[in-house]
Amino acid sequence: MSDRLYIFDTTLRDGEQVPGCQLNTVEKIEVARALEELGVDVIEAGFPISSPGDFDSVVEISKAVTWPTICALTRAVEKDIDVAAEALKYAKKGRIHTGIGTSPYHIYNKLNSTPEEILERAVAAVKYAKKYVEDVEFYAEDAGRSDNEYLARVIEAVIKAGATVVNIPDTTGYTMPHEFGEKIKYLVDNVRGIENAIISTHCHNDLGMATANTIAGIINGARQAEVTINGIGERAGNTSLEEVVMTLKSRYQVLNIDTNINTKNIYKTSRLVSTLMNMPVQPNKAIVGRNAFAHSSGIHQDGVLKNRENYEIIDPTDVGINESSIVLTARSGRAALKHRLEVMGFELDQAQLDEVYGRFLDLADKKKDIRDDDVALLVGDAERKERR
Ligand code: KIV
Ligand code: ZN
Repeated sequence: MSDRLYIFDTTLRDGEQVPGCQLNTVEKIEVARALEELGVDVIEAGFPISSPGDFDSVVEISKAVTWPTICALTRAVEKDIDVAAEALKYAKKGRIHTGIGTSPYHIYNKLNSTPEEILERAVAAVKYAKKYVEDVEFYAEDAGRSDNEYLARVIEAVIKAGATVVNIPDTTGYTMPHEFGEKIKYLVDNVRGIENAIISTHCHNDLGMATANTIAGIINGARQAEVTINGIGERAGNTSLEEVVMTLKSRYQVLNIDTNINTKNIYKTSRLVSTLMNMPVQPNKAIVGRNAFAHSSGIHQDGVLKNRENYEIIDPTDVGINESSIVLTARSGRAALKHRLEVMGFELDQAQLDEVYGRFLDLADKKKDIRDDDVALLVGDAERKERR
């Protein structure tokens, strides 16, 4: 039997913290509804104490969304937790996400505290949140750079205090996949009562390893992944939803883990978030970038035209993209040009094709993007030449 991974989407909290990505409440509701349609299990809707706008968004998203759990972020501070609980009052299923830093950087430099005091504050915050909701998630901020033994003590104590989910963030995107995987395994092996909570990953992408770290965490026992659409988030971003979900789907035979995501909605949700947040997706972004299913070199185009699977590991229709594209460039071969001509309704014999191909290469050397009207003109020129 396969295992289930819970998808916790933080596009509207960690993603929305990015300068220039701020959304108004109406826009946030639109994204939340799209996330619900996509099938995410948890929507982190905001940090209610941070501003009246964030508070209102959590309230309105709670009203607008039915199926996913709505989560509100807090620090390990009673006032934050009171305000989060108030913002969640309309949520059908509400979760408070509270926590504190556990790395030496956070304990000493940021919080000017001691490990023992941090442990006490962590436990107190979870107990306080439990007064309001059954579902309490604890985050050990900067767990990536936290000492494993100390982290295990904190996690054991918060589970005992009632935490239902324990989040192990690689806040600074510092770890490498083998280290992050070992960290999760260490917790699985050393925390008494770990079976009473779900382990969550929350990886940042500072070294470009957020997805790899998340997958390493899942392989070692995490069953919730915190992600954002298009990987947006603080600095270099968070783990991207589409990468984790499509890794699990494409490598199901190896991982044997499922999600509830309706993958056919991935592309349209990516477009919605990119448009509303005014945050372009890089063309070579895995899964949702403009070039993710575009083939431009002659050898690849020929291979794909013979059988899509020669160069594609994902069927584009699985993520809601109609078809892969064969881009005509100076690197394209005759096979790609012939294919485009056929799609456009031109049947050329070999001599005609050779003639048009020669002209095509001349043009493609001068022009980066060869469009259908360019191709039509090339065929027209060839036909006129033949008539003369
Ligand atoms: O990156 C992080 O540690 C966070 C926590 C608040 C969960 O975003
Ligand atoms: Zn984060």
